[in-house]
Formats: sequence, structure tokens, C-alpha cells
Amino acid sequence: MPKAKISAVGCFVPPQVLTNDDLSRMVVTNDAWIVERTGIKERHIAEKTIATSDMALEAARDALQQRGVGPDELEAVIVCTVTPDMLFPSTACLVQHKLGAKGAWGFDLVAACSGFLYGLTVAAQMVCAGSHGKILVIGADTMSRIIDYTDRSTCILFGDGAGAFLVEASEDDYSGYIGHLNEIDGSGAPFLNMPAGGSRMPASTETVNARQHYVKQEGQQVFKFAVRKMFELSEAILRRHGFQASDVKLLIPHQANKRIITATAERLGIPPENVVINLDRFGNTTAATIPLAARDALAEGRLKKGDLILFAAVGAGYTAGVSLWRWAY
Ligand code: UT7
Repeated sequence: MPKAKISAVGCFVPPQVLTNDDLSRMVVTNDAWIVERTGIKERHIAEKTIATSDMALEAARDALQQRGVGPDELEAVIVCTVTPDMLFPSTACLVQHKLGAKGAWGFDLVAACSGFLYGLTVAAQMVCAGSHGKILVIGADTMSRIIDYTDRSTCILFGDGAGAFLVEASEDDYSGYIGHLNEIDGSGAPFLNMPAGGSRMPASTETVNARQHYVKQEGQQVFKFAVRKMFELSEAILRRHGFQASDVKLLIPHQANKRIITATAERLGIPPENVVINLDRFGNTTAATIPLAARDALAEGRLKKGDLILFAAVGAGYTAGVSLWRWAY
């Protein structure tokens, strides 16, 4: 059986920046509160003409270019998103067409902030099964389209962006995918969701007037679940594969709140120098946070061939997942 490896990382963030000071002119908030409670300083916002498939396409092109691979070599494209261009066709279809990935099939995967890790799990399994050679996993979200910029409890958190991993068969047995643990717990649905626009509450004048097409969150509930699950799953996957926290070269977590990340790392006993945090510049880009963080770690020379890497995420659903890899390049 082949082993799956991550062979390239591509990213895109739109150029326009929304700072905490900008937000303090829109809602009653301030830079000091946002930085202290979340660690976020600024986030990128897509201009009106840009949709999720446009950002996903840029991230996809970047990943393929990093590896020197043509779109015709792709066998599947998985787009992880909660902000598709439209409900159907899938964003994967739109990206596959614009990219010119003529031989690829694909689909969208909806798991909110855990979406990218779930997509990565699926791609790893497809490569390990021997049925696919090269798969592009894209996490892309235009959160600014579903954020209520009159709600200070959510509008400070989110930003727009896209990232992609190329997953392919590894030549050696050492590098690549080791294992994953994923969980869902639908009892968390009331605490983080977007109520309208689906079959339960289709779009109407009433739903628009009641501001039901925006992200609603009970922040403290989600916070407590995130800290507990990120720790529990991380500890469990390390134990399952016979590793200690001290073996982890880099923890690359979903970037929702700096306090969630540091609490997780502290409980695991992973020192700050082995944890990637870049939410100060991007905020929570939902499915894009992990590839954006990996791209920054690569650029800073913090990812080396053979390093043990732990990815971890929690999101709406609830969804939660961890994934363990040896970096392959
Ligand atoms: O990736 C998806 C998963 N989502 C998450 O992981 C988010 C998890 N939750 C969080 O990150 C945090 O709960 C928040 C950052 C959303 C909120 O932080 P918190 O420390 O839990 O604050 P809180 O909701 O308990 O609010 C504390 C106070 C409240 O005022 P009172 O009732 O104590 O007078 C809020 O009204 O802070 C107030 N507040 C704000 N103040 C200034 C809430 N938002 C703001 C704001 N600026 N933007």
C-alpha cells in the first residue's frame, strides 16, 4: 500500500486588510479587548467581485506551481468550505473547470473549521488505498459574506482566505501520513450556526430582516468545547501512535482564538516555540487557517523533512479532528 504525503502548500489572501481599529469604528469594541481576548490584530477581506472559488483557484495554482505539477495530473479536487459560491454546483466543480484539471473529479466538504482536516483525512485515505495519485485539498472561506458587521461578538473574529495542500503518494515509508482521529457531536449545533438559507429556513424577506443569514455563536460554549477537544484528541492520537508531546516538532492548530491554542499547547506540554500562531494577521479564516499556518511555518523555516507535525481543529457542528504526519520535504 502506498503512503500519502503532503508535497506542496499554496495560499491566497485578498489584499484588503480590516484592522481592529477599523472595526472599532463599526461596532463598540477596541483593539485592546480584541487582542487580549482573541490575539487577532487584523484580517483580510475579499472585495465584492471575489467569491470563494476565486480564492480557492489562486491557492490551487500556487500549490501546483510550488511542486511543478500541471492541473492535468490531478485526479481529485476537494474543496472544504462553508461559504461556497452557491449551493450547487459545488465549488469543487467551479475550481476544477477554472484550473483546467480535466482529469479530476471532486466535491465540496462541509465541516466548518475542521473542514480542511477532514478533507486531508479523505485525501490521505484515497492515496493510501492506491486509487488516486495526486489530490488537491483546498480550504477556502469568504467569511465576510456571512458575518454580521453589527454583531461585535462575531465580526471581530473572522477573515477571508484560501489554502491548499497537494497530497500524493510518498516514495519512502518514513515521510507522510501517520494517522487521524475525527469526531462530530451534533449537540453543539445550536452554539455555532447560520440559521437561514437552507431547507429549514429558506431565504425570505423575513429571514433577511431578522438577520438570520449570518453566523450566530455562543462564544463561551464553543470556547470550552474547543479547549477540551483539541487537548483530548491530540493526547489520544499521540498515545495511539506511541509518541510523547515532546516528539511533536510543530503543532499546527486551527486559528480561532490564541487562548484556545495556548491552553491546548500548555495542557499537552508543547512549548510555544513548537506551536504555529498566525491569527494575529488573518483572524479565523475557517477552512483556510491550517494551510495558511503551514505556509507561514514553511516560510519561516520551521518545517523540515522528517519533522513530526500535529494538526488539530474544532469547529461548528461540533466537528473536531487531529491528524499526525511526518513532513515530507
Ligand atoms: O472556529 C470556530 C470556533 N469558534 C471559536 O473557537 C470561538 C470560541 N470563542 C471565543 O473565542 C470567545 O468566546 C470570544 C472571543 C468569542 C469571546 O470572548 P469571551 O472571553 O468568551 O467573552 P464573552 O463572550 O464572555 O464576553 C465578555 C464581555 C461581555 O460583556 P459583559 O456581558 O461582561 O458586560 C461581552 O458583551 O465582553 C463583551 N464583548 C466585547 N467587548 C468588546 C463581546 N465582544 C466584545 C467585543 N469588544 N468585540
